[in-house]
Amino acid sequence: MAASFSNRPDARSAANHDAQPLQAGVSLQALHTFGTKATAPWFGSFASGETLLRLLEQGPVRAAKAPTPQTPQGAMPMILGGGSNVLFVGNPSVPVLANRVMGREVLDNGPRYVVVRIGAGEVWHEVVQWTIARGWGGLENLSLIPGRTGAAPMQNIGAYGVELERTFQELEAMDLRDGSLKRFDKAACQFGYRESAFKKEHKGRYAILSVTLRLDKQAEPVLEYGAIRQTLEEMGISEPGIADVSRAVVHIRQSKLPDPAVLGNAGSFFKNPELDAEAFAALEAAHPDIPRYPLADGRVKVPAGWLIEQAGFKGKTFGATGCHARQALVIVNYGGAKGAEIWQHALRVQDTVEQQFGVRLHPEVNAIGV
Ligand code: EPU
Repeated sequence: MAASFSNRPDARSAANHDAQPLQAGVSLQALHTFGTKATAPWFGSFASGETLLRLLEQGPVRAAKAPTPQTPQGAMPMILGGGSNVLFVGNPSVPVLANRVMGREVLDNGPRYVVVRIGAGEVWHEVVQWTIARGWGGLENLSLIPGRTGAAPMQNIGAYGVELERTFQELEAMDLRDGSLKRFDKAACQFGYRESAFKKEHKGRYAILSVTLRLDKQAEPVLEYGAIRQTLEEMGISEPGIADVSRAVVHIRQSKLPDPAVLGNAGSFFKNPELDAEAFAALEAAHPDIPRYPLADGRVKVPAGWLIEQAGFKGKTFGATGCHARQALVIVNYGGAKGAEIWQHALRVQDTVEQQFGVRLHPEVNAIGV
C-alpha cells in the first residue's frame, strides 16, 4: 500500500529543506467554514512532522512561546485543520500553522480487522469513503463530517450513534513545547462526549500528526439512530451494508445540515447538555414533552436544538447571522457576518436558554480571540 509518511520518529534527524518561511498577515477567510474575515499574524503549513519542527524554530513562533507576564508558560502556535469547528471572534494573536500531513497506510491486514494509519491533514470524508470502498467498516456513520482527520480524536467526533473512539487505536502527536513526538493510546486520549484530553489538560499543546484506526471487515451496521432505519427503508434497503449506511447518513446530513461551502457554519454550535437526574426532573416537570437520551450513569442528555427552537430562535435572523431553519443548533453566516457578531448571537442564545430553562449551554465550537 502506498504511503507518504514522513513523520516517523526518526524524521527529526533527517535533512530538511522544505519548510517555507512563515508569512505575515495572512487571511484565514478561506481556511475555515464560518467564512468570516480573520487574519493570522503569521501563517505556515506543514506536510510532515519534520516540517512542523522547522516551523517551530522560526522567529515568530519562538517569540510567541516566550513567557510574558500575561502568559507565563508562553503561548503555543494555533494548529488549524479543516477549520470546521472554529469561530474567529477576533484575530488570533499567535502564529497559525495549517496541518497538511497526508498519507494512508495499512499497518496490519488480518482476516477480520485492518489497522490503518491516516495523516492528520487528510480530509475526513475522503478517508471514510476510502475505507468503505474497501469494505472496512466502522466509519460509515461518520460520513460527511466536515474537517480533517486530526480533529477527529480532538473532539471524539460522533454522529448517528457512533463516536470515533469505537475504532480509534492510537495517535501520534508532536509536543509544540519541545518538538518531541508522543503516542497516545485510547486511554491516554480520555475520550468523552465531544471531549478528549486535547481539549482539557493537553489543550493547545500538541499537533496531531497521524491517527491509527482499527476497522472491521465484518462490521455490523449501527442502525439504532432512528432516522437511519427510516431512511434505509425509504431507500428500499432491508439488509444494509456499510456503503448503504453511509449513503443514508449522507442523505440525512444533506437534508438537515447546511453545506458550509454554501452557507458558513461549524455544525452544532453547542454541545447537548447532560443533566443530573434532579435537574432533568425539574425540567421535565415544566416541559413534559422534552426529548431525552438517558445516559448509563443516570444523567440525561437533552437536545440543545430543541431548547433553542423552543426559545424561538429557529430560522430567525439577527443581521447576517442566526440559527438555521432546519437545525436550530447550527448557527450560520448568511453572508458577510463578522465573527464577533456570530459570537454575540451565540451568547444571546445561551442567555435566553438559561433564563427560560435553567440550562446553560456550552459551546462545542472553539472560539478564538474572545
Ligand atoms: N431538535 C429540535 N429542533 C431542532 C433541532 C433538533 O427540536 O432545530 C431536537 C429533535 O427532538 C431531534 C433532536 O433534537 O430529534 C436531535 O436532533 P439531531 O438528530 O439533528 O441531532 P443533534 O442532537 O441536534 C447531534 C450532534 C450532531 C450529529 C447529530 C446526529 C451534538 C452537539 N451534535 O446533533 O453533530 O450530526 O447528533 O448524530 O452532539 C456536530 O457535532 O457538529 C454535529 C453536527
